[in-house]
Amino acid sequence: MLGKELLRSFSDSPYKVVTPSHKEADISDQKSVLIFIQKTKPDIILNAAVLVNVDVCEENPQKAYLINSLGPLFIIDALIALGLKDAIFVQFSSSDIFGSKFNENPSEKEEKMFPVNVYSRSKYYGEKFLHGADNTYIVRSSWIYSEFKKTFVDAVAEHVRKPNGVFAAASDQRGIPVWGKEIAENTRLLVEKKYPYGIYHFVPDASKADATRFEIAQEIAKILGQRDNLFKKSSRAKIFKAPRPASSAIMTAKFPELPHWKESLRIFILKKDMLN
Ligand SMILES: NC(=O)c1ccc[n+]([C@@H]2O[C@H](COP(=O)([O-])OP(=O)(O)OC[C@H]3O[C@@H](n4cnc5c(N)ncnc54)[C@H](OP(=O)(O)O)[C@@H]3O)[C@@H](O)[C@H]2O)c1
Repeated sequence: MLGKELLRSFSDSPYKVVTPSHKEADISDQKSVLIFIQKTKPDIILNAAVLVNVDVCEENPQKAYLINSLGPLFIIDALIALGLKDAIFVQFSSSDIFGSKFNENPSEKEEKMFPVNVYSRSKYYGEKFLHGADNTYIVRSSWIYSEFKKTFVDAVAEHVRKPNGVFAAASDQRGIPVWGKEIAENTRLLVEKKYPYGIYHFVPDASKADATRFEIAQEIAKILGQRDNLFKKSSRAKIFKAPRPASSAIMTAKFPELPHWKESLRIFILKKDMLN
């Protein structure tokens, strides 16, 4: 999903964009990564490759650690080994690494992390290999939606359009919906405007901008003009197999300033014409 957003965002840039297939560059295979980087000698690497399904990660920890933890290591190691010291590396990461306590929205400065599942731990270790690395950005975000993949936003819109049984949404799980398009556009800005290397949280700038899954579902229904009570409050433990953090909400003390999530979600939903 994010990869396609990045491709669109960088397609009219001065760069020649290369998007390798799994066969051309398997992020979980060190040799494959090394050979591909050696062949292409990139100026910029944007790594959005991931095993992102939290339940699948929990059931396949080795695969999750290979892709999410060792993948970023293989990239940075290849850059060092090949002497590509000017190449810029952007690694995408997740607010889930904090596994933070309810109502606390950590900024880029926060160092305490308590990842609660294999996915979060695999992303956490992936980051660890990069801390302090030259020319590297770590871009964390919260709950991403995009036209390139069906997400929670689509599931809710589908239910609003054609209610089907009970739609249970967690009222004990907070996060911030973030439009993949905004992440991609700001990634381009980050690189082109040469912001200082380091960690960035790409979320709307507001410490009170987070919401529960239940509240987000209600907001989507409101945008679609439906005010009936279409959702049932539930708990994340009842809905999901693998444990989920109580909060995936983060805040930013740095660039960028994204619009409030309700504003972006409204534009996304109306543009996509989700009622039809
Ligand atoms: N989704 C979210 O809500 C969310 C939230 C916060 C942060 N993030 C972060 O954002 C980034 C992008 O996530 P996403 O949601 O865009 O994920 P996604 O839609 O699942 O896309 C992941 C991509 O990685 C590719 N991939 C998987 N295994 C690979 C391998 N071994 N070698 C090469 N490519 C491989 C997949 O290809 P195939 O489809 O062919 O397998 C897919 O194109 C990740 O760093 C993720 O942690 C995501």
